[in-house]
Amino acid sequence: MNTTLLNKTRTINTFLYKKVNMLVNLRNESSSNTKRTTIDKPNVEKFTKILQEWWDPNGPIKALHAMNLVRVPFVRDGLIQCAQNERNIKPLKDKKLLDVGCGGGILSEALSKLGAEVTGIDANKELVQLAQYHSNMNDELNLKPKYQYTTIEDHSKDFSNYYDGVVASEVIEHIKDKELFVKSCLQALKPEGRIFFTTPTRSRLCKIFGIWIAEYVMNAIPKGTHQYDMLMTPIELTFLLERNNCHVEIINGLVYNPCTNKWDLIRSQQLLFALQAVKLE
Ligand SMILES: C[S@@+](CC[C@H](N)C(=O)[O-])C[C@H]1O[C@@H](n2cnc3c(N)ncnc32)[C@H](O)[C@@H]1O
Repeated sequence: MNTTLLNKTRTINTFLYKKVNMLVNLRNESSSNTKRTTIDKPNVEKFTKILQEWWDPNGPIKALHAMNLVRVPFVRDGLIQCAQNERNIKPLKDKKLLDVGCGGGILSEALSKLGAEVTGIDANKELVQLAQYHSNMNDELNLKPKYQYTTIEDHSKDFSNYYDGVVASEVIEHIKDKELFVKSCLQALKPEGRIFFTTPTRSRLCKIFGIWIAEYVMNAIPKGTHQYDMLMTPIELTFLLERNNCHVEIINGLVYNPCTNKWDLIRSQQLLFALQAVKLE
């Protein structure tokens, strides 16, 4: 190679090196200046489309209504340790529960009926207003949930080590920064309190049945509800929790039959799973 060509190559290399460095620095600066958030705007705003039908038990989210039959006992049994014959009709009396990503309040109201002092928070303002309106109108509720339009990262700053139980049902799959989400949920939980998740599993089976068939063939859930890449596996969620001072106590598989609109707890965790963990001292 002659000297002119060698010099030209060096100049080009130096130029490219400087450009790449500049870009890396710019990226680092912007990420350190941006406040971390659990909100992924499209994943919050898409639920506004079904606001009108949220409380219709036969509407587009009938599966969430039907899910109460399995998730309410799952949360209840994780929070009280007494024999079945010793239980009263308000088994969660005096328990403070946080329903993160409460939506229109389907789960919050059901937990309130068991006597719990429920706080529901959501990043979608219209859904929080709907939840508030529905509970005001519901005469069956002696104890009403309290609702707040906020994020878990902000709420947990004011309510640190406060709740006996934190529930995030069908929410973590809509969050991009899962580490911040889990850490913030745990900050709000008392030591020895329980945290509960239900979420679809990132698996081929779930991609085929839970997304393609359920959303695009059977219309069992609204189209575009789930993005495969945002889902987690039970092992990933366990790892995240145990890295943050928790012990995972139970993982159950869940299955939904759109023909009967019924949920079942099953052994396989390939479609969806329900997880319970305790926050260690
Ligand atoms: C599928 S809905 C589940 C609603 C409720 N948990 C239930 O099962 O009835 C998901 C909810 O998560 C909420 N959400 C998404 N990202 C959120 C965030 N970063 N913080 C709080 N809520 C969020 C959405 O606004 C929506 O109400």
